[in-house]
Amino acid sequence: MSHPVAEERPAAHGDALNVVRAAIAEAAGPESAAQRVVDLLRDRFPPYDWVGVYWVDGGDLVLGPWNGPQATEHTRIAIGTGICGAAAASGRTEIVPDVNADPRYLACFASTRSEIVVPIFDGGEVVGEVDVDGSDLDAFDATDARFLEEIAALLAPLRPRS
Ligand code: SME
Repeated sequence: MSHPVAEERPAAHGDALNVVRAAIAEAAGPESAAQRVVDLLRDRFPPYDWVGVYWVDGGDLVLGPWNGPQATEHTRIAIGTGICGAAAASGRTEIVPDVNADPRYLACFASTRSEIVVPIFDGGEVVGEVDVDGSDLDAFDATDARFLEEIAALLAPLRPRS
């Protein structure tokens, strides 16, 4: 199997971006649009075992739409706590190849072996993030990061506003 070079976007990611854009355009509102995005990611990418969006609410991340085999008990996470909180605090994508080797990890599912968390920005500020858990070790790489960063840009306008 050949590995894509850094600048290449796998065809599956390009296709998915088009489908996601269309789904957002057709959705009845921001909440259903964001739900469609997580549903599409989970359906189209089998290694994406659990997909969720957290939105920033003050000093916390609050779980928004998600799709996966089980609900997580971590529906509110303080910024700075866990892998999710670390990505929100730094504004940097976190790729964790082995969650059991990362002391920051907040366990949700016994099956999770790796995780990627991608911040969602609006106007230079972190307003949320996309969290994907995988059941395989080392399930996510830089191509997933770039893809999910594009997804994050599509999610930014869908954030709940008070
Ligand atoms: N594992 C995350 C918590 C969220 S669950 O994966 C859904 C973390 O370490 O922040």
